[in-house]
Amino acid sequence: MTASRVLHLFICGAGPAKRVQDLLDLAHGDGWDVYCVATDSAVEHFIDTDSLARITQHPVRTTYRTAGNTPTPQPDAVIVAPATYNTINKWAAGIADNYVLTQLAELTGLGVRIVVLPFVNQALARNHAFSQSVETLRNAGVRILFGPGEFEPHPPRTGDTAMTSYPWKLAIEAVRN
Ligand SMILES: Cc1cc2nc3c(=O)[nH]c(=O)nc-3n(C[C@H](O)[C@H](O)[C@H](O)COP(=O)(O)O)c2cc1C
Repeated sequence: MTASRVLHLFICGAGPAKRVQDLLDLAHGDGWDVYCVATDSAVEHFIDTDSLARITQHPVRTTYRTAGNTPTPQPDAVIVAPATYNTINKWAAGIADNYVLTQLAELTGLGVRIVVLPFVNQALARNHAFSQSVETLRNAGVRILFGPGEFEPHPPRTGDTAMTSYPWKLAIEAVRN
């Protein structure tokens, strides 16, 4: 029997994080062994780390490993979803002031397959900084699912509705192919 491929799922602080189990179901269905890594904002406002640990059978990582903890295996692929305006811009600018950003910087440098599914409204997406960040990360080899037929931003204050059709499936298809 072949070992499962390892997927790292980076979860940022935006509404769809509440429904990240949808992605875990799809990933497990595809045979991925999923390790979740979350930002402080995701943990504070959106996710239940105990529940995600139960589903994945691995603790949710939020910071560096301390002595005695089991190391997380290197990923075969990475999904960042939901990816916030904040994390996308900081990552593209080379800022690594938290665990998620440091890991993303390293994984980008290692050339690991990374797929990003943003969740930003139209007002945030319209910022020049955001377009530049998307372009910078694409030039670095990161696949950003942003644009027609991929993630399309919603009007401000409609995030709760937009969340229900967040295209988790596109991220899984992108790491599959
Ligand atoms: C209820 C709530 C909803 C939010 N929705 C979004 C969102 O849809 N997209 C986004 O980019 N930021 C959203 N934010 C703001 C981010 O959580 C904030 O920028 C945070 O600093 C992101 O941190 P992170 O990128 O480390 O996860 C939301 C915040 C809250 C409290």
